[in-house]
Amino acid sequence: MPLEPTTFLLPEDAIPTHWVNIAADLPGDPPPPPLSPRTGEPAGPDDLTPIFPMGLIQQEVSAEPDIAIPDAVRDAYQLWRPTPLRRARRLEEALGTPARIYYKWEGVSPAGSHKPNTAVAQAYENAEAGVMKLVTETGAGQWGSSLAFACSLFGMECEVFMVGSSYDQKPYRRSMMQTWGATVHRSPSDLTESGRANAQHPTGSLGIAISEAVEIAAQSPDTNYALGSVLNHVLLHQTVIGIEALAQMEMAGDRPDVVIGCVGGGSNFGGITFPFLREKLRGDRELRFVAAEPAACPTLTRGAYRYDFGDTAGLTPLMPMYTLGHDFVPPPVHAGGLRYHGDSPLVCALVKAGLVEARAYRQNETFEAAIRFARSEGIIPAPEPAHAIRAVIEEADAATEAGEERVILFNLCGHGHFDLSAYDAYLAGTLEDPEFSEDDMEAALARLPEAPALT
Ligand SMILES: Cc1ncc(COP(=O)(O)O)c(C=O)c1O
Repeated sequence: MPLEPTTFLLPEDAIPTHWVNIAADLPGDPPPPPLSPRTGEPAGPDDLTPIFPMGLIQQEVSAEPDIAIPDAVRDAYQLWRPTPLRRARRLEEALGTPARIYYKWEGVSPAGSHKPNTAVAQAYENAEAGVMKLVTETGAGQWGSSLAFACSLFGMECEVFMVGSSYDQKPYRRSMMQTWGATVHRSPSDLTESGRANAQHPTGSLGIAISEAVEIAAQSPDTNYALGSVLNHVLLHQTVIGIEALAQMEMAGDRPDVVIGCVGGGSNFGGITFPFLREKLRGDRELRFVAAEPAACPTLTRGAYRYDFGDTAGLTPLMPMYTLGHDFVPPPVHAGGLRYHGDSPLVCALVKAGLVEARAYRQNETFEAAIRFARSEGIIPAPEPAHAIRAVIEEADAATEAGEERVILFNLCGHGHFDLSAYDAYLAGTLEDPEFSEDDMEAALARLPEAPALT
């Protein structure tokens, strides 16, 4: 009996040649600009050149719809791209749904997630500018290991501040970073002002770790900072995911009705959705987008749409985004990569405009979805995309109820091989569903910097 196809593979020469810059296609007024933390005026290159190379700053503010991917970056992408698109037939069967479910599988990269897509692009631009050391923060450890890997490709040094709770939960992520040659610090550390000022938060947060990394980068002319999410250029680099997925869905002879991704800072979500969103904006294609986040750090579903700092100490430009307050310290949920107080301004503007729907899920329902996926499709997902899988199951159940053949595409943006302590806790029934505290958020919002209101 002929096998029904489940895996859709592109040849290496189909690695995209250009990234999709969604900013060029957004309807209505351009999104509000980031503001300088010093002057409160729109941030200019002077606010960014101490920590970023000009190549990335140009990508950050570009109005070009397509931006060429340098050959050296495509060459590095060849180590794991194009990534597979798979149809989740066994999950469909297990759910008894008429929906057809597809996932883009980014866990095949050396670091095990989508993060190297931007790490190699950022390392390359810095190396081209003669900067041979990068410093960064990491939450789940996925970004730190991706940057460590990328720096090793370009002969660069790498220093990583790792959020305390993840440092304790994931010792082997640290080993991975060290294997690729990086130096790793537990954050908050006593190496920086920002770290020492936050010693009372021993589990740390992404906001604190970012402050530590930015502080180190700003002090030294031959060291730059690299951010694994949130900024426009990071989402830009991640669009290789959606560009490939567009071609692969065509190979599969299907068109998605809904595209789903988890959101920590917005990069894997932007990566899978923006090429599809551009098609929707340029035509009249019916297509929905769903962003899944944790109920313990519900930025898009419960945050305030305001200007806020990207870090705890207030060193970064003010960004227009949904925020829980830059000094909000979320409970140490296992999805360490989703513990950020804000989100990408581009993704926030799309939520605000009603083009993206956001949903929040608790840890236990998320892990239940991850286990269903692992027991049908085999892959053990990282806790972050498990939130997306929860949303996929909801969509599939809704299709079953409506008797509809809905086509669902989601980004399986990483594997969970270093997250097994969280799986252990779920299987032992000890995983908690921490409550989000409206009072804590209100207190944090009261400390937001003065800035123009956003409408
Ligand atoms: C596997 C994985 N997925 C998702 C995220 C969240 O980041 P983003 O929203 O930028 O994709 C992270 C962050 O570390 C991650 O490691």
